[in-house]
Amino acid sequence: MFVRAVVYTKFGPPEVLRLVERPTPEPKPNEVLIRVHATTVTSAESGMRQGRPLWGRVIIGLTGPRRAMRTLGIELSGEIAAIGEKVTRFRLGDKVFGFAGFQPGANADYMCLRQTASLAIKPANTTFAQAAAAVDGSSTALFFLRDKANIKPGQRVLVIGASGSIGTYAVQLAKHFGAHVTGVCSTRNLDLVRELGADDVVDYTTEDFTKRGERYDIVFDTVGKSSYRRCRRVLRDDGVYLPTTGLVTNNLLTAWTAMRRGPKVKAGMSVEKSEALVLLRDLIEADSLRIVVDKTYPLERVTDAHRYVDQGRKRGNVVVTLIDD
Ligand SMILES: NC(=O)c1ccc[n+]([C@@H]2O[C@H](COP(=O)([O-])OP(=O)(O)OC[C@H]3O[C@@H](n4cnc5c(N)ncnc54)[C@H](OP(=O)(O)O)[C@@H]3O)[C@@H](O)[C@H]2O)c1
Repeated sequence: MFVRAVVYTKFGPPEVLRLVERPTPEPKPNEVLIRVHATTVTSAESGMRQGRPLWGRVIIGLTGPRRAMRTLGIELSGEIAAIGEKVTRFRLGDKVFGFAGFQPGANADYMCLRQTASLAIKPANTTFAQAAAAVDGSSTALFFLRDKANIKPGQRVLVIGASGSIGTYAVQLAKHFGAHVTGVCSTRNLDLVRELGADDVVDYTTEDFTKRGERYDIVFDTVGKSSYRRCRRVLRDDGVYLPTTGLVTNNLLTAWTAMRRGPKVKAGMSVEKSEALVLLRDLIEADSLRIVVDKTYPLERVTDAHRYVDQGRKRGNVVVTLIDD
């Protein structure tokens, strides 16, 4: 049987993406075959499509995407359509959501993932479209706030990029952990960020958060719009700066600040997400975590979805549907 997939064979603008037909993949003994209902276009994939950042080409391919990376789609939700003979973790028909990470491929009707991949039963109270948007941003926010910064009740947290995918979850999760949260966003997103629970908001178009005379335990820059150098002055001496981007520089700063007194940088990459997905699912099912979906496109319009994400202005998440909910 032939199924739809979006592929690209060279780095470039959204137009490098092509919709093709190809045979349905077959799961290996320890893999599940997923009928993909929804996926997303993340900022990371907009970068992968363009071959950026340059250091990332070590993973995605030096001069063009590696064969295994030619179909994007790192977040997904769907149904288990077949299982390999050694699979014990999932059953036929299970409704799942998950993360394909460095083996993307959810821009296709079907994809295979190892049963040990970052995959979990999807929240019962969401559509597939919402579930697909509840994977990477949410688990990355959790990884940085809980695992890297060891967030505690009563701490003061500044979230830069509070209206983005990681940011919308970071505001809510920091509140969930009992912190006092200040969100940095532009004028049009002030209401959204307040609705998500931020105690305070800074409009970056009219105010510089470093000049407010406030000090924070955690500064979480979800969108790479600040620097440790600039943020150091608003961090308490035992504070933590969390950058999601600029991995090369920020890994060096992580090592350097670990050896010195004063605020620390804690950079990293969240890759293994199974445990996080279970916790996040519980929060979503308890109505304690809202999934912000900005726009939804059918697979045939994935190029338009990339065009939109390329602008860097999305609110929360951009979803691509393969089957209507
Ligand atoms: N380290 C990791 O494990 C990891 C994991 C996932 C993603 N990432 C990386 O994290 C980055 C962010 O991803 P994302 O999907 O959360 O971003 P995103 O959703 O694309 O961020 C877009 C948002 O950023 C806001 N924004 C733009 N300029 C801003 C500024 N100067 N100050 C504050 N907000 C600003 C925009 O709001 P306005 O339009 O209102 O300005 C928009 O709502 C990406 O580079 C991605 O590759 C890292």
